[in-house]
Amino acid sequence: MTVNTKSRLALLGGQKIREGKTFPAWPQYGENEQNALLRTLNSGVWGYGGTETEKFEKAFAEYQHCKYCVTMTNGSVTLRNALLACGIEAGSEVIVPPYTFLATATSVIEANCVPVFADVDPDTYCINPKQIEALITPRTKAIIPVHLGGQAADMDEIMKIARTNGLYVIEDCAHAHGAEYKGRRVGSIGDIGSFSFQSSKNLCSGEGGAIVSNNKELADKCWSIQNCGRIKDGAWYQHENLGSNYRLSQFQAAILNEQLKKLDKETEKRQLNAAYLDEKLSRIPGIRPLARKEESTRMAYHLYLFRYDAEVFGISRKTFLEALTAEGIPACAGYVTLIYQQPFMLKKQFASFTEWKHTNKSLDYSKTKCPVAEKAAGQEGCWMHHSVLLGTQEDMDDIVNAVSKVYENRKELCNFNKQA
Ligand SMILES: Cc1ncc(COP(=O)(O)O)c(C=O)c1O
Repeated sequence: MTVNTKSRLALLGGQKIREGKTFPAWPQYGENEQNALLRTLNSGVWGYGGTETEKFEKAFAEYQHCKYCVTMTNGSVTLRNALLACGIEAGSEVIVPPYTFLATATSVIEANCVPVFADVDPDTYCINPKQIEALITPRTKAIIPVHLGGQAADMDEIMKIARTNGLYVIEDCAHAHGAEYKGRRVGSIGDIGSFSFQSSKNLCSGEGGAIVSNNKELADKCWSIQNCGRIKDGAWYQHENLGSNYRLSQFQAAILNEQLKKLDKETEKRQLNAAYLDEKLSRIPGIRPLARKEESTRMAYHLYLFRYDAEVFGISRKTFLEALTAEGIPACAGYVTLIYQQPFMLKKQFASFTEWKHTNKSLDYSKTKCPVAEKAAGQEGCWMHHSVLLGTQEDMDDIVNAVSKVYENRKELCNFNKQA
């Protein structure tokens, strides 16, 4: 169907590009998930000791090219518990990117450590290894790269820096189930990989998380921390380590076991549709999809990200996104505030952590500057959720046509922009 991209914008009262059509819903489920839940219900074992978590841990470890997997309640505590498992002492510094969900940094604070922010790569929005080295001090103990949107960070460089400086690497893989860097699955490259199974994620069970590792000692420590400090062959009331109850339920694991079976097929579809969008959208002036690096041999595409140039369009990102949404395309600006710009960081609400106060009296995040991340958050980053990439080619054409239509009609929005 030919679409007249010069017709009046829906935001200004014209006809929408997508009228009465929806993109695929998320999460997707069917009889298999329903049967798995019922089976678990009838098993009478809903929590500790059930077979669903054990089955999932085995399958997911293998899926991520790791020997071990430990499930937990979510992908925030997995990060915090991974830091604790590495034995990182209170007051230590951990290098993180600022263009990510807040848990990447709050997990550091909750482990009584100090997040230090390294800027991101302008082409991938993943942490830029070139920015890491200058931030390393004698107190630095770990790096948490985030495989943002499902593209692996530059792991060769990150591991080189980490090994040279004796730092742990905890990969935040919350966006990157099944993603690969040079053929290796994320989470298997650093010391520990951390995953989230929260509702929006490519593999999900409402809430949930897991760590993966090839290091038995670290995996066993994570297992202990998530199970009240118990050890595998210890007695029930023997608490060898400081831990708590971070265990995943059998219901969540039962859903994950079903969802995992579909992940490869969905990932392939996301990759095909994303490649199609990359090709078409990059022809529109002012639109630059994030680069797909050669090393990224498999992308998870938790998000489809592109960079928007307000100077080329002559309208703000906010107006551009409003116009796109009005055409029926669910796009948003994503992380508009970096973690170090968040009110609680500027107010130093973490100051109740004694070790932090002791070691970092002068720490002031209002002085942190990561210009590339600031531009991504404040001006150019545009997102679409991965479920959109599960649509048809016609759905992808609608996205391209809607962006083209906003571009063609951009001048009509100049006044709208001033009022906005
Ligand atoms: C990059 C990143 N890290 C960590 C998390 C935390 O995961 P959860 O919501 O399961 O705690 C998320 C969740 O959105 C995330 O996007």
